[in-house]
Amino acid sequence: MQKILVARPIFPDVIDRLKQHFDVDWNNADVLGADELARRLADKDGALTAGDPVGASTLAAAPRLRVVANMAVGYNNFDMAAFNRANVLGTNTPDVLNESTADFGWALMMAAARRIEESGHWLRAGHWQKWSYDSFLGGDVYGSTLGVIGMGRIGQALARRARGFNMQVIYHNRSRVAEQIEAELNAQYVSKEELLRRADHVVLVLPYTKDSHHTIGAAELALMKPTATLTNIARGGIVDDAALVEALRAKRIAAAGLDVYEGEPKLNPDLLTVPNVVLTPHIASATEATRRAMANLAADNLIAALGEGPRAERPPSPINPEVLGKGRT
Ligand code: GLV
Repeated sequence: MQKILVARPIFPDVIDRLKQHFDVDWNNADVLGADELARRLADKDGALTAGDPVGASTLAAAPRLRVVANMAVGYNNFDMAAFNRANVLGTNTPDVLNESTADFGWALMMAAARRIEESGHWLRAGHWQKWSYDSFLGGDVYGSTLGVIGMGRIGQALARRARGFNMQVIYHNRSRVAEQIEAELNAQYVSKEELLRRADHVVLVLPYTKDSHHTIGAAELALMKPTATLTNIARGGIVDDAALVEALRAKRIAAAGLDVYEGEPKLNPDLLTVPNVVLTPHIASATEATRRAMANLAADNLIAALGEGPRAERPPSPINPEVLGKGRT
């Protein structure tokens, strides 16, 4: 039987499924450090990860490894150049999380705009004495302008929801999406600068790469309206969190909603002292159904990629399909 490592706790029934195909080494405990991950991969043919960094040295320590299935759509934890050099397949979990993640983007954006977390904390602290006309005045979402940076599958799911809120949708992306999609979403392609100047609510849904590092820093925040909100459901590092803290404190923008952070699960401690930010612990895809679908899709990728003979199938979501059929180097 081929051997796999499941590097993280996941649904036990998905482990049972994997056990029907593989000899499974399951780390149902704390996140593995780089050395321990390399040690546990030394005799494995495949692995299931969730954000664990896998680069050249990890692959070198795992000479049998042929596939690493990430239980996430983002795969910035994989060094894909190293995967390609070693002919190791990487897979991710696209599509199954689009709608849950888009729902969550809206939840964060609306919570930021309408000061849900800030007012909730105030209430719990016992400050509420009377109704007041000017308590926690926020900004409207209905009828406002939504700015989406990153118009991939999740960005499109987010923008689609804007119709019911009678919003104008503007977007920025590495390249324009097809005219038919623009028409369906009623979305206008604009430069990043124009988007930041015009949007009432900016939502970030782009992948993290060296090019998207600090897509939003002090200069970009300075372009935004003082009444605008910024929501990051993409990856830590896309926003310069220290610059954001400054902008929120100085009210250069009204509020922010963050699900991801530079250096998470640690985060810039100053964020905890800023009232006008909604903070959640990287849970945008976290519904029961979606997390199950992600785990099962990661398992499907492993089962197909390591399948032999008649069981060999093309994995459903390969990141680098060009290595399929090539021998491990
Ligand atoms: C979660 O962050 C994902 O990339 O799926």
